[in-house]
Amino acid sequence: MKIKSKFNELNADSSINSMLEALSTDGIFVVRNYINDIKPLYDEVLDLCLVEAGHYEFGRNFRGPALDKFNRNSQIWQVYNKAWMRNLCKQYHKSDNAYGINVFATYDYKYNEELARNGYLHFDRLWRLKFMIYLMDIQAENGAFFCSPGSVQRGETLRTANRDANRIDVHHKHEINDYPPVPVEGKAGTLLVFDTDMFHKGGIVKEDKKRLIVSIHFYTNPYFYII
Ligand SMILES: [Fe+2]
Repeated sequence: MKIKSKFNELNADSSINSMLEALSTDGIFVVRNYINDIKPLYDEVLDLCLVEAGHYEFGRNFRGPALDKFNRNSQIWQVYNKAWMRNLCKQYHKSDNAYGINVFATYDYKYNEELARNGYLHFDRLWRLKFMIYLMDIQAENGAFFCSPGSVQRGETLRTANRDANRIDVHHKHEINDYPPVPVEGKAGTLLVFDTDMFHKGGIVKEDKKRLIVSIHFYTNPYFYII
């Protein structure tokens, strides 16, 4: 059994080596209280979701541009324009090449018994390093992110072999015993940094519950850079 149910908890000023180590062994680390006063970012992201985002089956999803397109006074710019994030990305991807840094947000408030595609345990077809911030207190019942710490190297092997066979419950059922998903619960202001080769899934937002999150996706393939 390879079960590793606990993920690393680090700080933004933890050493880059401890972050790289956590990502390459677990696939994730969590920074508690990354943002103390969440309200300005919460308000800005909620507004983007309600005004600019498209509708989807669970609420609104904002598929934003690269970080550089954001106003320098915006909360999103200020929260994500961090040297340590860019440095971590550069070192983790072992690349100085141009990288995409798209901003995404979701506001889930519609209960739906159907699961979205990312509601199933999977690895992403396209490799990314993601920085996700909880803008509300998020528990298992309002859509906590689930992941299988320790599955990142297995996920890389499987993605490299066939990136389209990315649903663990369908294509790699036997892996679930070795890599069971656990919820990452956290208060508003919690930052999750993860490699999308790690098995993961979006949580389910139960009836009458809400979830608001924002994330930034780093990657190296300019073909997938969204302006
Ligand atoms: Fe995913």
